[in-house]
Amino acid sequence: MPAQLLDGRATSAAIHDEVKAGVEKLKTEHGIVPGLATVLVGEDPGSKSYVGMKQKQCEKAGMHPFARHLPEDISQEELEKVLGELNADPDVHGILVQLPLPDHLDEESALAAIALEKDVDGFHPVNIERLTLQGMEPTFAPCMPLGCVELLDRYNVEIKGKEAVVLGPSNIVGLPAAMLLLHRGATLTICHPHTENLAEISRRADILVAAIDQPRMVKAEWVKPGAAVIDVGWSRVKDETAKKGFRVVGNVDFDAVKEVAGYLTPVPGGTGPMTIVLLLQNTLLSARRVAGLID
Ligand code: GUN
Repeated sequence: MPAQLLDGRATSAAIHDEVKAGVEKLKTEHGIVPGLATVLVGEDPGSKSYVGMKQKQCEKAGMHPFARHLPEDISQEELEKVLGELNADPDVHGILVQLPLPDHLDEESALAAIALEKDVDGFHPVNIERLTLQGMEPTFAPCMPLGCVELLDRYNVEIKGKEAVVLGPSNIVGLPAAMLLLHRGATLTICHPHTENLAEISRRADILVAAIDQPRMVKAEWVKPGAAVIDVGWSRVKDETAKKGFRVVGNVDFDAVKEVAGYLTPVPGGTGPMTIVLLLQNTLLSARRVAGLID
């Protein structure tokens, strides 16, 4: 039987409605409108389009978007000055610095300059540290990994006690996803680009997270029958039969893997939409904390 699709579009639409209702309630009962600031440095088309989508979704949920588009050659000092202004602005409840930053900028220092209580992207070094330590809670967890776990939860895929394999130790997805799964009681293996026997290790997984940035690398033989497969890849590959001349694919060979897996995220329409809506959810959480409604 083909895999059940973990539908990120439908799930994110449901969460979007929940967030929108929460925003409305916060407005009417407490007079607070959650505000999300996006900081984009330079002109990278992918980052511009991604930030644009985040602002649009923010507006659709009834929140205030604050967009700061900074020049490619901005200095570290100027960038951190902008972050300081946003930290001090009471209308801003969440701040996101779109990554990667241009090479001359120090990413760690910029992320550390975001106020912890506004770090809705969860990349502040202290939040990453808290995510990796037992018994500690980050103020926010990174949105794409959070989206992976949320999808598993909404489709009632058991995590506790299961074998999870994460392919790719990236800071944005692989590592934080691994930590979230570990905290939820999974037995964890993280694979590196130098890992030998990738296929053999992957086949042990009840939950397989593919974050290796290699189009369609995960084949059917890599997947344990019935496993939940989360694909966080996104690449354009040439396709003469497609209207635009390309097709968007993930890290998983979707057509083959869907015949073996129990659950599978499509690309597009899987983890991508989840990432943005969880950013909105984190921003609402931040505004609710400011209103004293939660710790
Ligand atoms: N670049 C790619 N994905 C992300 C993300 O989730 N957040 C930020 N800030 N930058 C990214």
